[in-house]
Amino acid sequence: MLGPVILAASRSDRMRRFVSAAPGTKQVVARFIAGETVDQVIPIVREAAERGLEVTLDVVGEDITTREQSFAARDAYLELIGQLEDLGLGERAEMSVKLSMFGQALEGGHELALANVRPVVEAAAAIGTTVTLDAEDHTTLDSMFAIHSALREDFPQTGCVIQAYLFRTEDDARRLAAEGCRVRIVKGAYKEPATVAHQDKAEIDKAYVRVLRILMEGEGYPMIGSHDPRLISITQDLARRAGRKLDEYEFQMLYGIRSEEHLRLAAEGHRMRVYTAYGTDWYGYFMRRLAEKPANLLFFARSILTK
Ligand code: FDA
Repeated sequence: MLGPVILAASRSDRMRRFVSAAPGTKQVVARFIAGETVDQVIPIVREAAERGLEVTLDVVGEDITTREQSFAARDAYLELIGQLEDLGLGERAEMSVKLSMFGQALEGGHELALANVRPVVEAAAAIGTTVTLDAEDHTTLDSMFAIHSALREDFPQTGCVIQAYLFRTEDDARRLAAEGCRVRIVKGAYKEPATVAHQDKAEIDKAYVRVLRILMEGEGYPMIGSHDPRLISITQDLARRAGRKLDEYEFQMLYGIRSEEHLRLAAEGHRMRVYTAYGTDWYGYFMRRLAEKPANLLFFARSILTK
């Protein structure tokens, strides 16, 4: 029951101010956010590479309110890509972006977000890597998928995310299970109404398996974004049955969550990509991590009280 309350709080400015100022917050945030600056995240990319892991980098931020902030988001990614190129890390790290951070919700936002994300995708391609468009709340998805199609005309390796909890997702998966199409499948992390999304965990898990089957049997490149041991084992089974080799799909997990499992899957020969978020605007990302596992909230509350 706590999850939806935390997700509602993730959109509240008052809670944002309270949580950001609370003593002890930084320590808990550091479990999920790899640092505040590019310089802090680069050693983490290097260390991941040494351990046989790949990363997808997310400069945290969303729901911006001015065009200037959208340009700053674009520039932050361009700076990151520049650093990866200088250090020869381009092929180990791809980028994950939230289009709301690129201005999607502003007036003329669809065009603005496309204009902002295109140079990031171009710069990523120039250093041998790619970009995946994260999935945000359901009202943003038609625009996200249209931007994904537009980018794929020139950069077919551009990825996107689909969320198992949404009723629409099986249809999206059928459309996206096409040759060369990189699709990350996740359960879904936003507060969605019962008119558009399953609310029950067991129903979400069943939907995840149905979508996974569509992707595995299709022609695309599935990216399994989950920490759920049952789904990981079902993925391995479905991949085997579909005759997929280990380099024809990949697992993805979040930085700070089930880190031993990252290494175990990589040691088994799987491609394992760690979604690594960094930056200063961590509030929305952090609150979704608390909502996924209410025990995190207890840990957070304790760290505030003991400061
Ligand atoms: P589930 O929530 O059932 O967790 C399985 C187990 O994993 C738990 O029992 C626990 O051990 C551990 N775990 C999971 N979350 C934890 C947490 N926060 N803290 C501590 N332990 C935790 N969503 C979205 O809407 N749009 C997106 O673009 C993305 N992108 C994305 C990328 C990647 C790489 C991942 C892994 C996830 C996302 N998500 C996302 C988030 C996703 O929708 C979902 O909310 C989380 O992955 C949690 O669901 P699981 O599949 O891990 O299962």
